[in-house]
Amino acid sequence: MKAIKCTKYGPPEVLQLSEVEKPIPKNNEVLIKIHATAVTASDCVIRGFEMPGNPSFPKKQIMGLMMRLFLGFSKPRNPIIGLVLSGEIESVGKDIKQFKKGDQVYGFTGSTFGTYAEYKCMSNKEIKNGSLVIKPDYISHEEAAAIVYGGVLAMYFMKQGNIQSGKKVLIYGASGAIGTTAVQLARYHGADVTGVCSSSNGELVKSLGASKVIDYTKADAIDELELYDFILDAVGEKKSSKVKTQCKKVLNSQGKYVSVDDNFHKLGPDDLLQLKKLIEAGHIKTVIDRQYPLEQIVEAHKYVDKGHKIGNVVIAV
Ligand SMILES: NC(=O)c1ccc[n+]([C@@H]2O[C@H](COP(=O)([O-])OP(=O)(O)OC[C@H]3O[C@@H](n4cnc5c(N)ncnc54)[C@H](OP(=O)(O)O)[C@@H]3O)[C@@H](O)[C@H]2O)c1
Repeated sequence: MKAIKCTKYGPPEVLQLSEVEKPIPKNNEVLIKIHATAVTASDCVIRGFEMPGNPSFPKKQIMGLMMRLFLGFSKPRNPIIGLVLSGEIESVGKDIKQFKKGDQVYGFTGSTFGTYAEYKCMSNKEIKNGSLVIKPDYISHEEAAAIVYGGVLAMYFMKQGNIQSGKKVLIYGASGAIGTTAVQLARYHGADVTGVCSSSNGELVKSLGASKVIDYTKADAIDELELYDFILDAVGEKKSSKVKTQCKKVLNSQGKYVSVDDNFHKLGPDDLLQLKKLIEAGHIKTVIDRQYPLEQIVEAHKYVDKGHKIGNVVIAV
């Protein structure tokens, strides 16, 4: 089968189109023919993984070392990276009861990776954890693969805000994979949502449910901030602006500020099932920026590396 191998940690060019053996499912596994995957921010971090070099931050070096022990020291232990997929069950092992040949499914693989390929086996344990669910007919494989990562992460982070009707919520970085779903979730819970993004993404963010958008690139943007009950920094510590610096000062007395970099979130079972229900009810839609064929994965990574994708970048397999 065709697959993309990550030959070492480094720039997008370390990803190489290869011919590898098609996996054979064990008794407790399903074999999925992948139709679409996505290039997530985490894929780029894993591919480009660098040990933090600054000795004044020993905590970061220890974290880096632990990541390498987990992922593989000089290259990923599983050379086929990729976290999300949408496709069709091609065959099932005899112990699999939940799925049958021909089922259309989507989900995430967690730490086993392997979705930059034509086929992927997933175990009963992964399936039982709720990492694989049936795809509704009316969303495409591309839409399903795209929504999983930002969708599940947004579900997790937004839960920390206990968002209720009428609350004022600000999503910083409202145009990314996590941000576009976070805006929709906040709106779904009845919040009054402000999205922070650059001017070209303002209309999109409003169409997702924000009543107000603030352009973080404008010199006087901080004057537009109000007081909020919950603020989600949906882009993480590497992306900042004057608006973001000001955000921690514009919380109500009971307000809460959460960053997507606050803690490492292991994608959990309930999140995908809850997300699926919201998609099926029409409350959450996928935002796709670009689509590339598997053969152009290097170009896709170069684009995502720039840090300005709108929603999601999909790979058609
Ligand atoms: N804790 C965890 O478990 C966990 C897991 C995965 C990821 N993460 C974190 O989540 C982050 C976000 O992931 P993602 O996939 O949603 O990101 P993403 O889609 O790559 O974010 C791209 C978006 O960020 C916006 N952006 C860039 N610079 C900005 C700035 N200075 N201020 C505001 N917006 C800016 C861009 O909009 P413009 O073009 O308009 O600037 C673009 O739409 C990752 O980088 C990672 O740090 C955390």
